[in-house]
Amino acid sequence: MRFDIISCQPDLLQSPFSHSILKRAQNKGLVEIHIHDLRKFAINKYGQIDDYAFGGGAGMVMMIEPIAKCIEALKADRSYDAIIYMTPDGETLNQKIANRLSLLENVIILCGHYKGVDERVREKYITHEISIGDYVLSGGELGAAVLTDAIIRILPGVLNDESSALTDSFQDGLLAPPVYTRPADYEGMKVPEILLSGDTPKVEQWRFEKAIERTKQRRPDLLED
Ligand code: ADE
Repeated sequence: MRFDIISCQPDLLQSPFSHSILKRAQNKGLVEIHIHDLRKFAINKYGQIDDYAFGGGAGMVMMIEPIAKCIEALKADRSYDAIIYMTPDGETLNQKIANRLSLLENVIILCGHYKGVDERVREKYITHEISIGDYVLSGGELGAAVLTDAIIRILPGVLNDESSALTDSFQDGLLAPPVYTRPADYEGMKVPEILLSGDTPKVEQWRFEKAIERTKQRRPDLLED
């Protein structure tokens, strides 16, 4: 899967892709991440990519020309299955959306800033608008990092233990059950006996029951869905 991320603060995106699972996924050739500096497509030599909003009001608006030039340059080389705009008024990201997007091949992600992008960008180019939650970030970069992480970790071959993505919270509509590791007894706090029994079907049943219990307590809305 290939991601082309368009940003006016590309440095913000270096770190998330340089570590751990996301780095390994790239090294294994399972994913390509290309970060594009929007200022390279600025309308003048001062690097201008934004301007005041027509009609007045505080905050700058990202102009259509630099974004259009960048997207057109990318589209000249390949076709894209989705052009995603990170924005607080988009559809709230969840596991289902991440699963669906993980089936795509080539994806552009546009990171917004300031007051957002000129509405005509959304009309002309954007196929999906995604928010990572009901709060406003300084820009779309952190949202793009969250979205790509959620997608990449479920791509086949990315995690060493394939089953571990399948048992994540939300993957079956439930929160994950509690997990334990050594020591089996920490200052009198004992690991549930069943997990030490070696009886796999019983362990699975226990995990399922705990997942339901935890979901009922913390996120009853997931059970309603
Ligand atoms: N840009 C600013 N806030 C955002 C949010 N909550 N989700 C995605 N992109 C954003």
